[in-house]
Amino acid sequence: MALAQYRLRARFYDTQLAAFEPVRRRAIDSLQLKRGETVLDVGCGTGLSFEPMRQGVGPRGHIVGIEQSPEMAELARRRVSQHNWHNVTLVNAPVATADIACQSDAALFHFTHDILRQRDGIRHVVRHLKPGARVVAAGLQWSAPWDWLTNGLVLMAAMYSTTSLEGLAQPWSHLAQHLQEVQPVSSSINGVYIICGKVLSKGSEVAHHV
Ligand SMILES: C[S@@+](CC[C@H](N)C(=O)[O-])C[C@H]1O[C@@H](n2cnc3c(N)ncnc32)[C@H](O)[C@@H]1O
Repeated sequence: MALAQYRLRARFYDTQLAAFEPVRRRAIDSLQLKRGETVLDVGCGTGLSFEPMRQGVGPRGHIVGIEQSPEMAELARRRVSQHNWHNVTLVNAPVATADIACQSDAALFHFTHDILRQRDGIRHVVRHLKPGARVVAAGLQWSAPWDWLTNGLVLMAAMYSTTSLEGLAQPWSHLAQHLQEVQPVSSSINGVYIICGKVLSKGSEVAHHV
C-alpha cells in the first residue's frame, strides 16, 4: 500500500512538504552532524534532506539514503546527479532488508511513520549505527484529546501519507527501545513531534517514555 501511495504522490511530493521545511531544518540541526561523518536518511523520499545534511557532514562525509519506492528513489537519484554530489549513496529497498554497507554516526527518520512502526526495520537500521550514534525522528503525532482541530489535521495528513494510524500517540516508541537520553525537541507545530536520542550499546533495548 505504501508503494502505491508514493507511486502516485512522488511528482507532487516536494511541493506538498514545503510547509514542513522548518521541521526538517530543526530535526537535522538536532543531529549535530560533524564534518566527515556518515549519516543514514531512513525513508529518504526524494532526497529533500540531502542538502542540509551535506552542510553538516561536508563533501568528505557520507549520506546513505534508503527508500523503497522506485518513483521517490528516482527523484532522489536525479537530485544527486543534478548537484553532482559524489558522497550520497542511494539504496532502493525496504528498510528491513536494505544493504547498508557501513556503520554510521547518525540517522534521521523524517516523516517515516510506517518505518517507525516496523520493529524489524528499526533493528536493521540500529545494527548499522555505531554505539552512541545520534538519532532523530520527526513526524505526525496526535495532539491532546481536546485539540480536535489539530487532531483533524493530523488525521487527514496521516490518512494521506501513512498506511496505519497505529502508534500515532507515540510514534517513536519502538525506536526509543534502542536509544538512551531520549528527549523531545520543540517542532513549533502542533501535531508534529521531534525527538532525539543516542544509540545504546549493541544488543541492549530499554523502555523509554518521553
Ligand atoms: C512521508 S515520506 C518522507 C520522505 C523523506 N523522509 C522526507 O522527509 O521528505 C515517507 C517515505 O518513506 C518511504 N517508506 C515507507 N516505508 C518504507 C520502508 N519500509 N522502507 C523504505 N522506505 C519506506 C516512502 O516510500 C516515502 O518515500
